[in-house]
Amino acid sequence: MLESGSVADVRERAMETFWGPDFGALEREDPEIAEVVLGELDRQRGGLQLIASENFTSPAVLAALGSTLTNKYAEGYPGRRYYGGCAEVDRAEELAIDRAKELFGADHANVQPHSGSAANMAAYAALIQPGDTVLAMDLPHGGHLTHGSRVNFSGKWFHPVGYTVRRDTELIDYDEVRDLALAHRPKLIVCGATAYPRLIDFKVFRDIADEVGAYLMVDAAHFIGLVAGRAAPSPVAHADVVCCTTHKVLRGPRGGMILCREELAARIDKAVFPFTQGGPMMHTIAAKAVALREAALPDFQSYAHQVVKNSQALAAGLASEGMRPVSGGTDTHLALLDLRDTGVSGRDAEARCERAHINLNKNAIPYDPEKPMTASGIRVGSPAVTTQGMREGEMRQIAGLIAAATRADPASVTGAAALRDVADEVSALARRFPAYAQVGVPA
Ligand SMILES: Cc1ncc(COP(=O)(O)O)c(C=O)c1O
Repeated sequence: MLESGSVADVRERAMETFWGPDFGALEREDPEIAEVVLGELDRQRGGLQLIASENFTSPAVLAALGSTLTNKYAEGYPGRRYYGGCAEVDRAEELAIDRAKELFGADHANVQPHSGSAANMAAYAALIQPGDTVLAMDLPHGGHLTHGSRVNFSGKWFHPVGYTVRRDTELIDYDEVRDLALAHRPKLIVCGATAYPRLIDFKVFRDIADEVGAYLMVDAAHFIGLVAGRAAPSPVAHADVVCCTTHKVLRGPRGGMILCREELAARIDKAVFPFTQGGPMMHTIAAKAVALREAALPDFQSYAHQVVKNSQALAAGLASEGMRPVSGGTDTHLALLDLRDTGVSGRDAEARCERAHINLNKNAIPYDPEKPMTASGIRVGSPAVTTQGMREGEMRQIAGLIAAATRADPASVTGAAALRDVADEVSALARRFPAYAQVGVPA
């Protein structure tokens, strides 16, 4: 508690003495970093942010992140810390946990993981032993590095077996998942992906896991925000453990979160701290609490549904420009486009779009003949532009802009001019839907 006195007294005293981020101090002390902060704000506001894993957090989330909670060491969990002075940060963590449990209908929530990868590592540590077999989606088919890549702990310390999508439908091949599970008897099955535009049938995964006696971990890093906004089905009832990020569609601070059944709660908590992490980032945990509260409001449901409508409109717009949506479309916040008919690689499309201030990423498509750093596809996502208030009409416009930029070869005079035209249109559009609009300042 702050100090003794009535609630009104305490609040008044706190407001009189409130100390928050002071940008003037940063400018005076470290002009170089102040310039980076302003430059990045300008970049975020000035272009189109279509990277599917990015979003614009609210000013309230940013305020909690920039608070003095960052100073506090609080190893342990609320009420069971290794340090004194944790009463205030305990409240922040309890609020975050309660809000996560309520929002997702989960028995238990751990809000300490520093990132999605850290959440996944802790889940592995809680459920399996080094050398155990993990069945997860192959990286080139949409899986994540932490799902068994050789360059990641998951591929070095465990024995990964990868499932794929079908060549004809580009949807998860559930028959193959079952066959591989029966053949390899994994201890853990992972579903959830980085570049899979469709909904996942968690029930089928649950049944396969039960059939072979494996745990089921759903990596909901990408789509947990859609679940929060009731725009996608929840994996919580089907999974043993659900790993999340808090910074994608969910629109919170950069970080991770784990939801699980009560029986696994103690194992998950021990796997996060002390097994894989030390002191939690209490400023980030407070910001997660803020974001979880925001995600429970009715506005967030409208937002999440609009995110899906927007990515569908974007995918359809790009399809009409000759870019083939992998799997024929999307049910989520992201779409994957096969560019082979345009004759432009994913790498070149990404670079050309960036020159026109459109940020998206090259991405391998299933069975991609190109190397990952070249890639035949791009991935686009709608979370950030939807936060700015854009809707289907703007998505159609953006599809035209992406196509124009992709076709423009910057080495030619006409291409360079076309990119400048696209950049002008992008700036005008971004000005109409300002990110972090200042109150009272006309856009
Ligand atoms: C499916 C999936 N899991 C985990 C992660 C890791 O999240 P982070 O970058 O916070 O470590 C990502 C990141 O994009 C992801 O897409």
